[in-house]
Amino acid sequence: MLMERTFVMIKPDGVRRNLVGQIISRFELRGLKIIGMKMLKMDKETAEKLYAEHKGKSFFEDLINYITSGPVVTIVIEGDGVVLLMRKMIGNTDPKESPPGTIRGDMAITKSENVIHASDSPEKAEKEISIFFTEKELIKS
Ligand code: PPS
Repeated sequence: MLMERTFVMIKPDGVRRNLVGQIISRFELRGLKIIGMKMLKMDKETAEKLYAEHKGKSFFEDLINYITSGPVVTIVIEGDGVVLLMRKMIGNTDPKESPPGTIRGDMAITKSENVIHASDSPEKAEKEISIFFTEKELIKS
């Protein structure tokens, strides 16, 4: 049976502010298994695919401009219940509503530049993983 997987992305502000190491440390401290990782600068087409569900919303253009403004680090993590666990670890979309101890609660200030993205369901995770990784690129246990 395939273990649950999730897609995590350290956003341009997280990379720009040199937070990559601290964020990955949290995953390692928690004992999570990283099975894929890539740094890249997204093109507009890929960004629009990733955020397709938000097309038409007032913030869509700002979101696409921001997410393509600099490199991101894309990560795939595998584990039992990892989608929900990762959402708890990153905190709420609005960092002001994220408790201390969460990544956004400790590192972010605004809803647009909120350091990190993680899939909100196992189905979305598989879709998002497939945008950035081939199955061959992921480590099999
Ligand atoms: S919604 O409408 O409630 O579903 O949207 P929300 O969950 O608040 O946000 C969805 C993602 O869009 C990002 N966002 C923004 N980016 C740039 N500029 C602005 N103004 C902005 N507002 C929201 C927000 O960080 C969410 O990104 P992800 O990567 O999914 O966490």
